[in-house]
Amino acid sequence: MQFQPCIIYKFGWDLIISGMWRYKKIILVGILLIGSILILTQCQQNNKTVAENTNVDFGQFAGSKSCIQCHQKICDSFTTTTHHLTSLAADLSNINGSTDSLHNSYYFSPSVYIKIEKKGDSLFQTAYSNGVKKISVPFHIVVGSGKRGQTFLFWNKNRLIQMPLTYFTETHEWTNSPGFSNSPVFNRPVTSRCLECHSTYFHKTSDTTVYPEEFSKTEIIYGVECERCHGPAAQHVTYHQQHPEQKTASYIINPGRLSRQQSLELCRLCHGGKLSKTQPSFTYKVGEPLKNYFNYEEGAPVVSETDVHGNQFGMMSASKCFINSNMTCNSCHSSHGNETGRKEIFSQRCMSCHSQQQNNFCKLKQVSENTVLKNNCIDCHMPELPSKAIMVLRQGEDIPTSAHMHTHFISVYKEIADSKLKSITAGH
Ligand code: HEC
Ligand code: HEC
Ligand code: HEC
Ligand code: HEC
Ligand code: HEC
Ligand code: HEC
Ligand code: HEC
Repeated sequence: MQFQPCIIYKFGWDLIISGMWRYKKIILVGILLIGSILILTQCQQNNKTVAENTNVDFGQFAGSKSCIQCHQKICDSFTTTTHHLTSLAADLSNINGSTDSLHNSYYFSPSVYIKIEKKGDSLFQTAYSNGVKKISVPFHIVVGSGKRGQTFLFWNKNRLIQMPLTYFTETHEWTNSPGFSNSPVFNRPVTSRCLECHSTYFHKTSDTTVYPEEFSKTEIIYGVECERCHGPAAQHVTYHQQHPEQKTASYIINPGRLSRQQSLELCRLCHGGKLSKTQPSFTYKVGEPLKNYFNYEEGAPVVSETDVHGNQFGMMSASKCFINSNMTCNSCHSSHGNETGRKEIFSQRCMSCHSQQQNNFCKLKQVSENTVLKNNCIDCHMPELPSKAIMVLRQGEDIPTSAHMHTHFISVYKEIADSKLKSITAGH
């Protein structure tokens, strides 16, 4: 086997500004401006082209629009879910951040900033240094429903690059993207694993030896859609269109009939923290063992070392509720509607296992007596805690701000419960 010489890939328009200067500090430590060129080497093996999406093809998908004809009710309520909204082709209507002149910029220092600019029907992130425009890139793809935030991607030829500014919903402002250094960075490539968690399908066109990865701009299914959980469904649609008399389903997976393990693994694909993949992204098929696609350790993780972001499966699997019952994610979550914030509905689901009749109800006596508490088991037993993984740097601050997420380690949180009780008795 022969190796081709390494190809040097240049981001000609790359801009990296490194500076110790922070907005609030009075003494200027020094601004070092390097309009540097980042060089990535990319070695290609000559005669071994390994196609990424080997056993899943764009043509096997029908698209969610085609389901409406026969499953209208589910389709209607599904459009409100964060799964549906978690990635979209960007346009003016779905980018949440402000474009008005008071709130459309993020300053890394008084002379280095990024501004959100509108040209025609498109928005751009434009970097300025000492009043000089350095680089301007268009918003192409939105990632994130906006419940917590939105991150944006743009195409550079067939590569996808993450934009430097992220919209952070908790503080309603543009912030430096999580994990980015405190300077305008326009060269962070997006991986197929990122897309695998935030969409239904992206066709990767480059082989496994090429980095950054390359994707087709046309073979994309945005959002975590029907076919992500039910499998590609073109055959199901064609069959039932041709056989309207058939009332039992063909060529489709109903996760409601999977084993507990299979059902959990479907959600774990994206809600199980960092799994290292052993197969190309997008090839996992619902119902097949996740172990055939990823390497991970069996057993519940150490709770204190697990972040509330991204690993609901890990946190839940350490809980007594999970260990001592047949709990799955579907014990509390419905897949086709948006129940965000509906604490009374979730509390009902707790009470399907915990009730006074079964003698395993809440040990705190105030709860049995107070309907406000009874309708909200969540604030005390699954409180929102700060994430160490989703943190953004706000303008002028040195310490990143955390997003808050519900822990799935269901347990007794004494201090939180005490303060909840206090606020209830104080009439809040
Ligand atoms: C031409 C009609 C038709 C279209 C279009 C259609 N389905 Fe179905 N589907 C059916 C019928 C009929 C059934 C069986 C009765 C039922 O469960 O509603 C069914 C059942 C299902 C089931 C339950 C399977 C089971 O074993 O219980 C799922 C899941 C499903 N469809 C998903 C989809 C998805 C996803 C799409 C769009 C990509 C889709 N369907 C498009 C007709 C259709
Ligand atoms: C292909 C990846 C993927 C799969 C599979 C998946 N999810 Fe998600 N899920 C996501 C992403 C990404 C989000 C974040 C959406 C956002 O806000 O942008 C999310 C959000 C959620 C939310 C938050 C809803 C809210 O209130 O905002 C719940 C609950 C959830 N998923 C449950 C499940 C369950 C249960 C399963 C298994 C049946 C599952 N997910 C399977 C990727 C996935
Ligand atoms: C996050 C994963 C997920 C997504 C996305 C999803 N489903 Fe489901 N679906 C499930 C699960 C889990 C079940 C079984 C449990 C249940 O009934 O809620 C199910 C059950 C079904 C059923 C059979 C039971 C019923 O309620 O009739 C149909 C039909 C169906 N889904 C269609 C769809 C369609 C159409 C879409 C897209 C508009 C969709 N699903 C999106 C996970 C998902
Ligand atoms: C292993 C799966 C996984 C990967 C990989 C992943 N995410 Fe997520 N992401 C999630 C899940 C699940 C959520 C929502 C629940 C949570 O935070 O635990 C989420 C939340 C988000 C949100 C907040 C959405 C909202 O409004 O609530 C953004 C923005 C986001 N991800 C962007 C990205 C980007 C950009 C990448 C890749 C560069 C990425 N994520 C990689 C699973 C993933
Ligand atoms: C599928 C059934 C089921 C559901 C749903 C359920 N639990 Fe549990 N839970 C259990 C079982 C079983 C135990 C273990 C009891 C034991 O150890 O004796 C448990 C234990 C607990 C404990 C004790 C935990 C500890 O570490 O000591 C708390 C608190 C709790 N559950 C609260 C809740 C809350 C709040 C909800 C809803 C958000 C909920 N549970 C939903 C079955 C369930
Ligand atoms: C105001 C906060 C608060 C609310 C609301 C609340 N709990 Fe509790 N819960 C506690 C505290 C604190 C304890 C521990 C009490 C003790 O051990 O003396 C507890 C104990 C429990 C236990 C027993 C844990 C064990 O050690 O075995 C269960 C089960 C439980 N709660 C379930 C629920 C359910 C279900 C709801 C909703 C209907 C609920 N709780 C609402 C604070 C709360
Ligand atoms: C015992 C009930 C219960 C189970 C089981 C459960 N969840 Fe949740 N989940 C909740 C509650 C309650 C919330 C908070 C909902 C709200 O207020 O919007 C939540 C929120 C979420 C969110 C949004 C994050 C946030 O901070 O609001 C995601 C994502 C999620 N769950 C995924 C999962 C996944 C994946 C599983 C299975 C591994 C699962 N959940 C199992 C009760 C549960």
